[in-house]
Amino acid sequence: MEQALDKQVLLEVNHLNVQFQLKNGKQAKVVDDVSFVIHKGETVALVGESGSGKSITSLSIMRLLPMPPGQIAAGTIALNGKNLLELKNKDMSSIRGNDVSMIFQEPMTSLDPVFTIGNQMIEAIRRHQKVSKGQAREMALQHLKDVGIAHAEKVITEYPHQLSGGMRQRVMIAIAMCNKPQLLIADEPTTALDVTVQAQILKLMMKMKKEQQSAILFITHDMSVVAQTADRVMVMYAGQIIEDAPVRELFLQPKHPYTAALLKTMPSLETEMTRLPSIPGTVPPAYALPEGCRFAPRCPFVMAHCHKRTPEPRFIQPNHSVRCHLFAEEGALAYEGQRSAT
Ligand SMILES: Nc1ncnc2c1ncn2[C@@H]1O[C@H](COP(=O)(O)OP(=O)(O)OP(=O)(O)O)[C@@H](O)[C@H]1O
Ligand SMILES: [Mg+2]
Repeated sequence: MEQALDKQVLLEVNHLNVQFQLKNGKQAKVVDDVSFVIHKGETVALVGESGSGKSITSLSIMRLLPMPPGQIAAGTIALNGKNLLELKNKDMSSIRGNDVSMIFQEPMTSLDPVFTIGNQMIEAIRRHQKVSKGQAREMALQHLKDVGIAHAEKVITEYPHQLSGGMRQRVMIAIAMCNKPQLLIADEPTTALDVTVQAQILKLMMKMKKEQQSAILFITHDMSVVAQTADRVMVMYAGQIIEDAPVRELFLQPKHPYTAALLKTMPSLETEMTRLPSIPGTVPPAYALPEGCRFAPRCPFVMAHCHKRTPEPRFIQPNHSVRCHLFAEEGALAYEGQRSAT
């Protein structure tokens, strides 16, 4: 599942900065200088501890960030070369749910409780495709069957609260995929579900992705899911992407001390995890970030200048970047030496 370098770029996020104005007057930099690329058809996992900025990054792409208190202070988000941040609301609405769809962690936040599943699906289809109500209904039924709902005729007449969590998530996937998006953003889509349903939903997402050749930005805390599904992994820490690498390389040769610690504390890929494993210390809050590298206070390889200068992302391979002073030329060798000695 290695990433092909010659793949076409679908989404390009450049130097994205998102801030929140807090009630106490402070400003929280929740996404800071985030840059990444997603290629057509690629599955990219975004991992990181709670509060690291994963959901805010995805909501920014969808232009669903609550503004205020949120604000995109800088950066560009280009889909097929078009900066979404410059689009009029009307033009963004025609992209949302069509070219880019999102599945949320809790499906009740995006399913409307007062409309039937059928009404919501027909509306989602007709917003982007010129078809009659009857045709849209037939399409909705087919989409529900595609996501493994056998009694689709009954489900289409029901309201969200009448369905189980697993069924609601299937419906969400059916809605998200009904206009064949080029990019699906899945923000912890299976966290609220029990293990067997999780596995089914995951399988289903990957099947739909393959059929429709969509790219996926997959936010998850479950590294076994990452290992099974992703082509590439981006690790976020305190609002920044600190490492970005093909999945095999990241698992076998993590470079950033945070990624290495994350993988080291994982009991095993087979073990069920509800949270990312804990690393001594805590993530600094977004309104009180330390000077220099944000991981420095927890880093076993910290150097004096890590507390003073923020490391920039550095490509150590054409498709592997890391944001760490150890990978400035002078530090890299010493670090590799220390690591192989442990
Ligand atoms: N409406 C808001 N007002 C102020 N701060 C916010 C708001 N929403 C999010 N934040 C802050 O933004 C930061 C990033 O939040 P985000 O939801 O993106 O984290 P996450 O990585 O998705 O975490 P999780 O794994 O828990 O879902 C957090 O510090 C959070 O407290
Ligand atoms: Mg989140």
